[in-house]
Amino acid sequence: MKKPFKIPFKALSVIFTLVAMAGIMAFTLNNDIKIVTTKSPLPVLKKDSIASVKAFKQVYTVLMSARCMNCHPSGDVPLQGDDSRLHTMAPKRGVDGKGVYAMKCANCHQATNTPGVHTPPGNPNWHLPPADMKMVFQGKTPRQLAQQLVDPKRNGHKDLKKLIAHADDGLVLAGWNPGEGRTLPPMSHAAFKKAWLTWLNTGAYAPGK
Ligand code: HEC
Ligand code: HEC
Repeated sequence: MKKPFKIPFKALSVIFTLVAMAGIMAFTLNNDIKIVTTKSPLPVLKKDSIASVKAFKQVYTVLMSARCMNCHPSGDVPLQGDDSRLHTMAPKRGVDGKGVYAMKCANCHQATNTPGVHTPPGNPNWHLPPADMKMVFQGKTPRQLAQQLVDPKRNGHKDLKKLIAHADDGLVLAGWNPGEGRTLPPMSHAAFKKAWLTWLNTGAYAPGK
């Protein structure tokens, strides 16, 4: 007589583990918002106005922090300090955002932070947005700022892909390396990037006001 076919106990436990793992993975994927990284060719849109507005509210607290707003002023003079006062000696924006005459930003702002307090923070590309595309953050409500950020006529002609990539822009990263004596934005860069991508990838909805 033939022996009845028997599945060894080891094989059974392996199968069980695999099924359980697949279940957990499916659950995690379903409960995670798809986040598009700069490496993926085309952004995946999963519209969700509630998640989008919630993420933008976090983004807004960073954009309005001194580290970001000081270079996105409503006037033509940058701001400085944690209290965002007008920059001493009032260097002007100029057409290209790099200053005018003897007050070029790069005369004082070097490629890296100058050591010490009350010294110029540094970056090889330190300048304001240009005169024809001022990208003002100062004084904007969350709704106004969200609408501006996705408007190609006002955001420097950025499409979704470029907006996503901007999370890792050198001047954005500079906010998290501000030089001695300056406070950091209200969340880590990783948390900001996650909120920024979530906002964009869920439809870039603007809050109600
Ligand atoms: C040294 C000045 C400087 C600082 C500091 C700075 N920015 Fe900017 N920002 C610029 C300039 C210049 C541009 C325009 C360059 C471009 O379009 O690529 C810009 C453009 C932007 C844009 C695109 C504008 C739009 O309307 O879509 C965003 C978003 C942005 N910055 C976010 C930030 C955030 C977030 C921080 C702080 C963590 C920050 N910036 C700090 C100078 C600065
Ligand atoms: C004559 C030198 C000088 C020039 C020119 C100059 N800066 Fe500054 N900047 C400084 C110094 C010094 C500080 C630091 C002040 C402090 O912390 O008390 C500073 C600080 C800043 C800050 C504040 C950074 C922060 O996170 O709070 C911004 C923004 C800034 N400068 C932008 C600019 C821009 C844009 C230009 C060109 C349009 C420019 N500066 C031209 C000397 C200069």
